[in-house]
Amino acid sequence: MGSLDTERATIGWAAKDPSGILSPYTYTLRNTGAEDVYIKVLYCGICHTDIHQIKNDLGMSNYPMVPGHEVVGEVKEVGSEVSNFKVGDKVGVGVLVGCCRNCRPCEADVEQYCNKKIWSYNDVYTDGKPTQGGFAESMVVDQKFVVKIPDGMALEQAAPLLCAGVTVFSPLSHFGLKQSGLRGGILGLGGVGHMGVLIAKAMGHHVTVISSSDKKRVEAMEHLGADQYLVSSDATRMQEAADSLDYIIDTVPANHPLEPYLSLLKLDGKLILTGVINTPMQFLTPMVMLGRKAITGSFIGSMKETKEMLEFCREKGVTSMIEVIKMDYVNKAFERLEKNDVRYRFVVDVAGSKLDP
Ligand SMILES: NC(=O)c1ccc[n+]([C@@H]2O[C@H](COP(=O)([O-])OP(=O)(O)OC[C@H]3O[C@@H](n4cnc5c(N)ncnc54)[C@H](OP(=O)(O)O)[C@@H]3O)[C@@H](O)[C@H]2O)c1
Ligand SMILES: [Zn+2]
Ligand SMILES: [Zn+2]
Repeated sequence: MGSLDTERATIGWAAKDPSGILSPYTYTLRNTGAEDVYIKVLYCGICHTDIHQIKNDLGMSNYPMVPGHEVVGEVKEVGSEVSNFKVGDKVGVGVLVGCCRNCRPCEADVEQYCNKKIWSYNDVYTDGKPTQGGFAESMVVDQKFVVKIPDGMALEQAAPLLCAGVTVFSPLSHFGLKQSGLRGGILGLGGVGHMGVLIAKAMGHHVTVISSSDKKRVEAMEHLGADQYLVSSDATRMQEAADSLDYIIDTVPANHPLEPYLSLLKLDGKLILTGVINTPMQFLTPMVMLGRKAITGSFIGSMKETKEMLEFCREKGVTSMIEVIKMDYVNKAFERLEKNDVRYRFVVDVAGSKLDP
């Protein structure tokens, strides 16, 4: 680890307080250690979790905070022990940049469940410095938490795979829900939800989108290839769809009743929660008992699953549907994301943006 005067300065866009407004911020990066990869950021997706973080929704935010955890970049330098990456490689970084490596989850290759995991931003690294995310010129990341973007995949479209993509791929894989012919539901058609539709369709599932409005019907059916579209407030259609789904991936980022969705599940169906909700949710036990249904949750995916997901997406030709913006639009983009006004992910063209004031 280098001394301060030899550390590299970089510039990112940081939230300075819970207003969540991002503005330019200069900080230093550690020197490239033996296991590290020094990455020039090219693109970074905007996830709803970035809003929870910059606005201190969970009461755990530290500022200044450079968000961004759907990072695609180019390798500029590698440490002496790095053999899987070389200068010029196009790589990705997601939600995590560290873990303890010897607890049960780490040993089982599900390091996202390590109690000592280190988040790519709003956390403290092993050197005691704050971690900062992908809305920045560059990052230094341990090679374990770096993946290669498959050749031929459009880099800006790869960005959302690194959080949203693996967030849907991991539970489908873990819960044995990958085989074709299953009937799946995607609740909430945002960044995570649209990846859910694309990945579930690529697995050969019959996919029902369950949305809060009718606004996304045509896009869901025609652009994303969903098989069915339900508006959650349409009691008649919801009733007709009762007992029809093997699973629902619930991506809604705000408190909502669970009963309407539990009733859509078949015997042994699973309601998989992925939205971050900081108020208690409710359900009646017969809703899960009668049908042996499960309410569970899932957090991103491991590095192993991230690699499997990227390979799956390459093979099936799955990418994301995005709106590419420059950094000077990022605050407006956060506003629009909060108002449910994006199809379906904003991706910041970081390298093509002017980052300094
Ligand atoms: N578990 C994980 O590892 C993981 C990973 C990534 C994100 N997340 C979390 O998952 C949630 C979704 O993330 P995202 O990036 O997909 O968000 P997003 O793009 O904002 O999508 C959320 C979707 O939920 C629906 N929705 C219903 N009620 C809403 C409400 N009151 N406010 C906003 N949206 C509402 C909307 O879809 P309709 O218009 O179709 O109703 C909206 O498009 C967030 O809480 C995020 O923090 C978790
Ligand atoms: Zn995310
Ligand atoms: Zn661990």
